[in-house]
Amino acid sequence: MYLIGGTASYKIAEDLSNILDSPLAKVISKRFPDKEFYFRIVDDVKDEHVIIVQTTYPDTNLVELLLMQNAAEEAGAKKITVVIPYYGYARQDTKFQDGEAVSAKAIAALISLNADKVITVDPHKEHILDFFSTSAESCTAVPEIAKYLKQKKIDLVLAPDKGAKERAKTAAEIINCDFDYMQKTRIDGSTVEMKPKKLDAKNKTVAIIDDIISTGGTMALAIRELKKQGAKKVFVACTHGLFADDAIKKLSNSGCDEIISTDTILNNYSKVKVADSIAKLIK
Ligand code: R5P
Repeated sequence: MYLIGGTASYKIAEDLSNILDSPLAKVISKRFPDKEFYFRIVDDVKDEHVIIVQTTYPDTNLVELLLMQNAAEEAGAKKITVVIPYYGYARQDTKFQDGEAVSAKAIAALISLNADKVITVDPHKEHILDFFSTSAESCTAVPEIAKYLKQKKIDLVLAPDKGAKERAKTAAEIINCDFDYMQKTRIDGSTVEMKPKKLDAKNKTVAIIDDIISTGGTMALAIRELKKQGAKKVFVACTHGLFADDAIKKLSNSGCDEIISTDTILNNYSKVKVADSIAKLIK
């Protein structure tokens, strides 16, 4: 069995190689002067199980993944497992308006071309796994995030909306504290509305947990609401820290006490690793 890490997820591939006690394949990857990607597997992977690890965000990393898969297929790999720590494009999982592309489905079709198995972490909605025409499974980073939060003496875990309640419940069970959810309405891609809801947050250390922080709009509103309701400290945690535009500034200006994300998208807040959760599915 060989591991191959794309440029977006090399560190996770390295972690998996250590956990699974399998080597990282020797590869050559580069960008041509016009920025097109080149990829070659140097080791002989014929009849081997090859595990390719690559987050599909931003778009350039998706192209890298498709080429890595093709190289493994061309080299005669026996089995290709694709690990996608963050599956980008998952949020457009249906036609919200006539004429729209269903991005989660379109990208899944491409990845399925050269994959025997797909593994991803905390997909936006579980049903996107059905878009892959190959076997597809997900694992969750929430227990690892909860272990990190446990050291912070959290009194209350909140989901920013009702749909994310189960995630908050799982974390709260591990931390051994209460959980609840907030009332969010999404107006468009960058605007959300947070309806005040009486929460038992006064003088408490609260953690808000979500799958993605993108513009930070959802979390910023939630933090402000909680501080208004008297929360002592507010931590925000997510699996996938996209932190688009001025998200970090927005969070700090709202009074956030700490930002936590995993390493599915490497950033300055990647305090939690996902390799152990992924390895359990490979084993
Ligand atoms: C949406 O349903 C997701 O779970 C996140 O709440 C959302 O993607 C966060 O986006 P933003 O940070 O832009 O508010």
